[in-house]
Amino acid sequence: MRKIIYYVATSADGYIARPDGDVSWLERPRPKGNYGMAAFFRSVDTVLLGRRTYEVARSFGHESHPGKKNYVFSRARRRSRAPGVEFVGGDVGDFARRLRGSKGKNVWLLGGGALAASFLDAGQLDEFIIHVVPVLIGEGIPLIQPRHRRMPLKLLSSHAYPDGVVRLHYSVPPPEPDENTR
Ligand SMILES: NC(=O)c1ccc[n+]([C@@H]2O[C@H](COP(=O)([O-])OP(=O)(O)OC[C@H]3O[C@@H](n4cnc5c(N)ncnc54)[C@H](OP(=O)(O)O)[C@@H]3O)[C@@H](O)[C@H]2O)c1
Repeated sequence: MRKIIYYVATSADGYIARPDGDVSWLERPRPKGNYGMAAFFRSVDTVLLGRRTYEVARSFGHESHPGKKNYVFSRARRRSRAPGVEFVGGDVGDFARRLRGSKGKNVWLLGGGALAASFLDAGQLDEFIIHVVPVLIGEGIPLIQPRHRRMPLKLLSSHAYPDGVVRLHYSVPPPEPDENTR
């Protein structure tokens, strides 16, 4: 079955971007293998982006991930002119069930924290692959949009890179009734 995986980098204090969306603190010399990014990229055929993440990526000239199907989530009706990019709205649970019902590789939920929270709260996020970057940025956009949660995760693996980045790979157990709010 296709998995939906939130593959992301955070600061050591749990932020994916500064409050204004700045991610320049992520720029650093990449070790050989770029933290396994190429292998992960090959394992997915679909990328899910929140509208704010899409706008930041677009401002850098990365309108889409070539060769992948790119879905951008927005509650407003929008249309993309970029090939391979489709704006979607509606219920994320219905969207995820449709995606899982069609054949394909795993799905990269690129972010950000608001979209990841929507999938998590709908019981539609299977795994987290979090790269913790050894830097504190003090304030910013959190890994997952805040709300009261108690969501135990299962650690599948961890890996410390020589430059101090740590990759944490978790699976999300299937939701129990009221698991999110207990
Ligand atoms: N460090 C990393 O690895 C990493 C990864 C990804 C992103 N980022 C950064 O994270 C920042 C953005 O994160 P964010 O949490 O603020 O925003 P986001 O999740 O990228 O986008 C939020 C927007 O997505 C849409 N959306 C969210 N949930 C939805 C739902 N259930 N149904 C329909 N649309 C939905 C809404 O768009 P509308 O307002 O149009 O309705 C919402 O305003 C950017 O700065 C980006 O660069 C960092």
